Amino acid sequence: IGHFTFDPGFMATGSCESSITFIDGEKGVLLHRGYSIEELARDADYLEVCYMLLHGEAPDAATYAEFKSTITRHTMVHETMTNFFHGFRPDAHPMAMLCGTVGAMSSFYHDDLDVSDPEKRLRSAYRLVAKMPTLVAMAYKHNIGQPFVYPRNDLSYAENFLNMMFSVPAEEYKISPAVARAVDRIFTLHADHEQNASTSTVRLAGSSGANPYACIAAGVASLWGPAHGGANEACLNMLQKIGTVDRIPEFIAKAKDKNDPFRLMGFGHRVYKNYDPRATVMRESCHEVLAELEVKDPLLQVAMELEKIALEDEYFASKKLFPNVDFYSGIILKAIGIPTNMFTCIFALARTVGWISHWHEMLGQDGQKIGRPRQLYTGEAQRPFTPIKK
Ligand code: CMC
Repeated sequence: IGHFTFDPGFMATGSCESSITFIDGEKGVLLHRGYSIEELARDADYLEVCYMLLHGEAPDAATYAEFKSTITRHTMVHETMTNFFHGFRPDAHPMAMLCGTVGAMSSFYHDDLDVSDPEKRLRSAYRLVAKMPTLVAMAYKHNIGQPFVYPRNDLSYAENFLNMMFSVPAEEYKISPAVARAVDRIFTLHADHEQNASTSTVRLAGSSGANPYACIAAGVASLWGPAHGGANEACLNMLQKIGTVDRIPEFIAKAKDKNDPFRLMGFGHRVYKNYDPRATVMRESCHEVLAELEVKDPLLQVAMELEKIALEDEYFASKKLFPNVDFYSGIILKAIGIPTNMFTCIFALARTVGWISHWHEMLGQDGQKIGRPRQLYTGEAQRPFTPIKK
């Protein structure tokens, strides 16, 4: 029926036009609004990147100050949001709480849900970028049974997040500049990545005119899987399971075995057939952070050796499988004291700006249509129905 291309997994389908992010997977290039990820990770902070993703240009000093002040004024969530968290089991996975609470935000901002109004769309975008760290930190505090910590507007975006995660009423939390810088860089490295599964999910959800909070909740859900954002949690669990360098060959053999579902987590990418440029920055950052914090984590040794052995292996070379962004991020997050089950939430927090920038861009495009893929039907041909009583 009709004419269409059969392309499961969208291996060869361009779904939209976008001016936000460029990737050349063969050469390992990633640009946001024309700026390389290496330069942004080195010289910009996360909120600058957020501004350019949303607005198209890097901000000047005055614009940046205004943007930062707007974001900080939106960091609090409605107080009744605490009730949602208290409704979850104490051991609920933080991504489960995030899916639910981000979606629940749809019920708080009725006046701003007209998605045809660009000003309202931007206000929703600011809210989401501002409130995501608050929700993620609340999920963590709920898990460990500590009181929620309100956001502080005198701190940077990364510092505020760390403070909401780690401060307790009884004692002031001293934010290490090195840790704040590392977290800010992790946010930047995850900010956007064009039409990946979760961004495509947000676009598809938004193409029907659904509200932004519901769309971002859909993005969070899609990100959760181990083939996507869940890989950072899975990667650290894998490194822990390997444990020591001498066990690496056993796991390499498992990854190569066609009859074994095990894959090297943090390795391989649909688009990059070369080193993921984010992984290069993340690896450098990992060495810096561990040195600055004077943390000696044997898992770094395991990761470096695993990378070396895999890169020299014919299987990984022939399939062009390289470390991706998730390979080293977990070691940094662990050094900072963030538990493994929070890793994917950190990815979601950072990617929210990418999701909402794509959503905003899509709804501003002429001739925007509802996303509606076709299928190859493999079921029964038409046949007569026999009622149960017969
Ligand atoms: N370990 C072992 N073999 C692998 C791996 C791996 N990590 N990744 C791909 N392969 C093999 C795969 O078995 C297949 O072999 P064959 O051609 O013989 O069937 C071939 O390489 C191509 O893999 P694919 O699954 O067809 O490729 P894809 O583009 O559909 O999948 C991927 C990309 C990222 C899902 C996959 O590489 C993977 O599962 N990696 C591990 C999970 C991971 O690290 N995900 C994070 C991705 S980056 C951050 C993000 O997007 O969130």
